[in-house]
Order: sequence, then structure tokens, then C-alpha cells
Amino acid sequence: MVNDSTIALRNLVFNYPGSERPVLDGINAVIKNGEFLAVVGPNGSGKSTLARLICGLLRPSQGQVLVEGLCTVDPRNRIEIRKRVGLVLQNPDNQIVAVRVEEDAAFGPENLNLPSKEIHYRVNHALEQVGLIHLKDRPPQLLSGGEKQRLAIAGLLALRPSFLVLDEPTSMLDPLGRRGVLDVLRGLSGEGMSVVLITHNMDEATAADRVWVLRDGKLAADGTPGSIFSDPVMIRNLELDLPWVTRLANALAGYGLNVPAGIVNTDDMVCFVCRLFKQPS
Ligand SMILES: Nc1ncnc2c1ncn2[C@@H]1O[C@H](COP(=O)(O)OP(=O)(O)O)[C@@H](O)[C@H]1O
Ligand SMILES: [Mg+2]
Repeated sequence: MVNDSTIALRNLVFNYPGSERPVLDGINAVIKNGEFLAVVGPNGSGKSTLARLICGLLRPSQGQVLVEGLCTVDPRNRIEIRKRVGLVLQNPDNQIVAVRVEEDAAFGPENLNLPSKEIHYRVNHALEQVGLIHLKDRPPQLLSGGEKQRLAIAGLLALRPSFLVLDEPTSMLDPLGRRGVLDVLRGLSGEGMSVVLITHNMDEATAADRVWVLRDGKLAADGTPGSIFSDPVMIRNLELDLPWVTRLANALAGYGLNVPAGIVNTDDMVCFVCRLFKQPS
């Protein structure tokens, strides 16, 4: 389907050679264009494997991954898929390829042999999107961890991908760096970029429109953050951590306040507290 603008996982099974059990075992799901999806799950549940399958870096053992209708198994689609799905990794230091921020962000588009005016335009726009334009002449090694991750995002944005996949991009960052990356992702999502954020941090997952929980090779849950984190049976069965706002909401409910279900982020909590005191939020 040429007009398909999704990433479709069709009965996706993946086995590393020599391992007894598949890491992913029959996943059927669709990532829609423009959505902000968070993928959570315990260590070893296959989150990084899924990221690599979505980008075409790994091929399914069975089933299919279709990126905008292009099957990742077909070698003729490889370059096109790399252009459409960008992957940001965990370690900010492993993604630097040049000696100036601007050159680093230009590395991808230069490999596409785009005209230099177009590269300049794309790179400047991408650096503005991630809030690094003022640092464009700085050596990337001198950036903070969070800035390095935002630079990695800029380098991908300059390729104009349809989907950004980020594999625990904040796990090596301090709280400030973490917040900076999350703010950029929220901003990009607001502009219509499709974002797949793999994270073990439930507070980050609440920034997404939708959450997938991977467990024992299966897609164990798929829903909005509000529906997933307010379902006590699901939380218990999947041993999920709760976002801190939800823990606060539960504690307030324990004190007898009539707290509505599905409070997962600060905005929800501010609305609730303002309603409680009858003030406009
Ligand atoms: N290159 C590999 N070869 C063999 N097994 C692997 C390889 N990479 C990961 N695994 C195994 O696959 C499972 C899922 O790993 P991974 O996708 O990294 O999970 P997560 O990112 O959720 O922690 C783990 O049991 C891990 O040990
Ligand atoms: Mg991982």
C-alpha cells in the first residue's frame, strides 16, 4: 500500500540466533503517523530489539514490519526506510560525528547529496527546533549530555524522517537534560512529528498519547497513559511503576478526596486541584 503512512507490525516474531525463546512473539500493532507513542516494559522485554526491527536494522524471524507500506525485509527498501525512520540511541557520546554542531547535524543530509543551500536551510531549521541554534559553532564534545541528545535529534530531523524512534534517550542524562529532551519531543509531537519513545521512566511515558507495555514477548497493554495507569489490575499484573502524579493522586484519594481516575501528569493534577478550590486553571 503506497499511501500507507503507518508503521505496521504484522504477527512480528523475533528470535536471536541460538536463543530458546523468541524476544518478540507475535506482535500485531500499528503506529500511526503523527502519534506520540511510549514503549515501556521490564529490562530484557525486547524494547531495543523492537526499535531495531522498526528501523530495519534487524529483520523479523517471522511476520512483517511495514514502514509506510515498505517491507523491511526487502533490501531494495533499505535506504528509503533509513530516510523515513530515524533512531536515537541511549549514549549521547556515541552519536557525534563532526567537530562543530552545525557540521554534525549536516552529516546525514550531506550523504543524501542534497544541494548545499537546502542542507544549510534544513540544518538551521533542525537546530532551531531542538534549541541549539545558538551553539552551532561549538564542538559537540563540549555540549552537555542533554544537548548532545538534542543534537542527535537535530541530525535526524534534517533528514526529514516520518518517524523518530528514541531508545531510552534520557537514561544517561541528569534531570535538566532529561527535561530538555522531553520538551523537544513534546514540541515536535505538537508540530505533527511521529515519535516512538522507549523509556523505563513512567513519568516520561505520560507525555505520550499512547503507551505500549511489552512483556514476555507480547504487547501486554496498549492504551492512553490515563487508561493504563489508572487500571489497578493491569498495574498489578504487569508490575508497572506508577507516574509520580498518579501516586500523589492515589495518596490524596487515600485521604478521602474524590480524585477522578486517570490523573497521570502535572496538567491533570493542576486541573483537579483548581477544581477542588474552584479556581480557573
Ligand atoms: N545481540 C543479541 N544476541 C542475543 N540475545 C540478545 C541480543 N540483544 C539482546 N538480546 C536478548 O534479547 C532480550 C531482549 O533484549 P532487549 O531488546 O535489549 O530488551 P530491552 O531493551 O527491553 O531491555 C534480552 O533477553 C537480551 O538478553
Ligand atoms: Mg533496551
